[in-house]
Amino acid sequence: MAFSPIKFISEKTKELKVKIGNSRAIIATSGGVDSMTCAMLARKSLGENIVVLFLDDGLMREGEPEEVRKFFESVGINLEIWDVKESFFEALKGKVDPEEKRIAFRDTFYRTLGQAVKSYSVDFLIQGTIAADIVETQKGIKTQHNVLSQIGLNPATFGLQVVEPLRELYKHQVREVAKKLGLPNKFAERKPFPGPGLATRIIGEVVPERVEKIRKATKIVEMSITGASIFQVMAVLLSDKATGMVQGKRMLGDIIAIRAVESKDALTASPCKIPWATLFKVRDRILKEVPGVVKVVYDITPKPPSTIEYI
Ligand code: XMP
Repeated sequence: MAFSPIKFISEKTKELKVKIGNSRAIIATSGGVDSMTCAMLARKSLGENIVVLFLDDGLMREGEPEEVRKFFESVGINLEIWDVKESFFEALKGKVDPEEKRIAFRDTFYRTLGQAVKSYSVDFLIQGTIAADIVETQKGIKTQHNVLSQIGLNPATFGLQVVEPLRELYKHQVREVAKKLGLPNKFAERKPFPGPGLATRIIGEVVPERVEKIRKATKIVEMSITGASIFQVMAVLLSDKATGMVQGKRMLGDIIAIRAVESKDALTASPCKIPWATLFKVRDRILKEVPGVVKVVYDITPKPPSTIEYI
């Protein structure tokens, strides 16, 4: 039977109301479609009894907190923003192993959320976990930061009761629900962006200076490589250096990889055939606007064997 977003919304708003009743719930939003859909669904079901929180962890895309705040303001929802950049950078300091970085991010995220739960006196956390997150975590490929029980975290440790209204849905279904809930296309059709943010796009240590580079490159690729067939597009900062030539002098510089994939559910993916002209434009902008980059490469690997993200 075809998926009906209207039926889904009607069922889930009732279900949330039964589960949460007159208690209060918090939704941490990152500006991604899953968490924003959760916020809209929760608002519809629970009215004023929700707190929508944006943890500004320093790993978001350019302008993200402002964009998200503007949207929620426009629909009458107050967005709480916590500047927690320092604690995230402190937790990630010195870590180069992908799994260690994911764990550092996850622990800091849930510890901070635990503080928010106490400070806003809420009883429930509504989280935008979707079906692909669960499948991937079951396979044990990566520590997906948001499937608490599967990664051996007891939500009660963080003072949380977790509710996951989107857990049966795949991304394309979440987008349908998002639109029906009034999220503009800008958010409903947004490319997926992982919870640990730009930290997943950096090989090696995640420090503010390196994040700044990949934030600039991300903006360039997202603006230039567009189209309905693209599931996700990203720029990744590698940890190796390459020899370059700047103003006639030898210089060791950074390497940035561009990755654009087609996919339906993120479980498998294939590289997009981007026109050379587009790639050349992106290359020129990255070389000009991102300091210290001497090499730009395009990744042609499918998933499997590669994953979509680099860590
Ligand atoms: P991979 O890299 O595992 O990614 O092929 C599959 C999809 O999941 C996203 N992703 C994440 N999303 N928390 C998330 O919310 C995470 O820790 C995480 N890691 C990967 C990735 O962007 C892709 O869409």
